[in-house]
Amino acid sequence: MWKPPEKILYPAQPGRWPSADEAAAARLFEPLAVGRLRLASRTWVPAMVPWRATDEGDATDDVVAWYRRFAEGRPGALVVEATGVRDIPSGPLLRIGDDRFIPGLARIVEAVREASGGQTKLFIQLIDFLAIRRRPDPAKFFERFLRVTDALREALGARDWPEARVRAHLRTLPDDALERVLPPRELEALRFGTRERVTDLHLPHVAELPRVLPALFAAAAQRAERAGFDGVELHYAHAYTMASFLSATNTRADGYGGSREARLRLPLAVTEAVRTATGKDFVVGCRTLADECIDGGSGVDDASVFGVALARAGMDFLSLSRGGKFDDAKQPAVGWAVYPYTGRSGYECMPARHSDSFGPFGRNVAATAQVRAAVRAAGFKTPVVVAGGMHGFEQAEALLRAGTADIIGFARQALADPDWFEKVRTGHGDAVRVCRYSNYCEGLDQKHKQVTCELWDRAALDEPGATLTTDGRRRLLAPRWNRARD
Ligand SMILES: Cc1cc2nc3c(=O)[nH]c(=O)nc-3n(C[C@H](O)[C@H](O)[C@H](O)COP(=O)(O)O)c2cc1C
Ligand code: SF4
Repeated sequence: MWKPPEKILYPAQPGRWPSADEAAAARLFEPLAVGRLRLASRTWVPAMVPWRATDEGDATDDVVAWYRRFAEGRPGALVVEATGVRDIPSGPLLRIGDDRFIPGLARIVEAVREASGGQTKLFIQLIDFLAIRRRPDPAKFFERFLRVTDALREALGARDWPEARVRAHLRTLPDDALERVLPPRELEALRFGTRERVTDLHLPHVAELPRVLPALFAAAAQRAERAGFDGVELHYAHAYTMASFLSATNTRADGYGGSREARLRLPLAVTEAVRTATGKDFVVGCRTLADECIDGGSGVDDASVFGVALARAGMDFLSLSRGGKFDDAKQPAVGWAVYPYTGRSGYECMPARHSDSFGPFGRNVAATAQVRAAVRAAGFKTPVVVAGGMHGFEQAEALLRAGTADIIGFARQALADPDWFEKVRTGHGDAVRVCRYSNYCEGLDQKHKQVTCELWDRAALDEPGATLTTDGRRRLLAPRWNRARD
């Protein structure tokens, strides 16, 4: 992962923990009821992909156990990982593109209800993404994948050469020569792997996205409702299709790119389709970026306009993340796909303990506050979720009291200790296993390995009932909180 050049080491700063009485009086543990969104507390576990689904996209026992474990801590809301709205193979990532996925997803709902005693609202994040290929072996790229066009022959001065000779010649060229002759997208395909963009209007399936996505998201949301979820979070953030429509880099000339209004058109159409397809009490919210954190990307002023428009469209919550883009991601090794959390924007999304003079905590606070203020100024009460480096009670409480956000999202802190919420609420904050922001978990995600936390994944491997990773080296779930012992 990219690190700020300053590389200043920041220990976590959880601050003072409250007594049970202080927690009972805290805003963080107050219920929230705005529109359809009703939470027992203002705590939230944002989506985290654990790499536990089957290759066919079904929930496994391990997926169910992963969410059950978070629910034991009784956060106000828990968001199930990014789940694909299409019925296409996408490796061990959850899918919801067909009715056959409903029974597996319903098992997650049941487990969360039971483990949280009905205290945790359960949402599922719905995602669409475009095709991305692994970085090819250069020999194979020149042999098979590269398109030999007239323009390329022209650039090489090889108009009369047979195709095989062009391919063989290109293989011998050094990097700087390749930079001169290959078109930018071919160069990118060679160095990073082919990646489709929403601006690829020459590809029919990309051109038709505005016509197919509203129905795909709507059908997925209906399935989520049938599986028993309390609502959906539409994934309009990070590196994926919907965020790419909102991005200032979206120059589509078909009315769905360019101005902010045009970039919003598809997200608003998807929102409306989902709202219409689901029941009157079903929660529909979205995750957007408070800032894309890339050159030429959308900034907080765009995010404020989007926030107001999405609130006006009837969103039940707005969850704000930042960064996480392909645009500035590092070159992957041959055979690996580019990962959108390896550049500066990735750092902004999941800031780690080596940081700059600002530090890793609260990087999304100012932008979130600005978006929320714009939403309030436009007359909407839509609850706003902030995330990024949240781990302390005082920090969370101060943000709620300052009006930065209405709900506090704890992703990695909840992974480090799913019992954070119960421990803090009951005056046992001293027993919290505080996240170190090492990003060991994020490294596992990048390698598509089962995600665990370094603070507990080697502990008591022989504990009765502990489930282990496929290589048998790590436990899959945080050890249970033993109130008498810990
Ligand atoms: C292993 C892992 C998987 C993640 N998967 C998702 C995801 O599926 N969808 C999403 O919107 N964010 C995802 N995120 C980002 C988190 O939701 C969160 O925004 C980010 O980690 C910053 O919050 P934190 O500092 O509380 O961890 C993931 C983060 C981690 C560490
Ligand atoms: S591995 Fe654990 S301690 Fe490190 S960032 Fe992830 S959750 Fe935090």
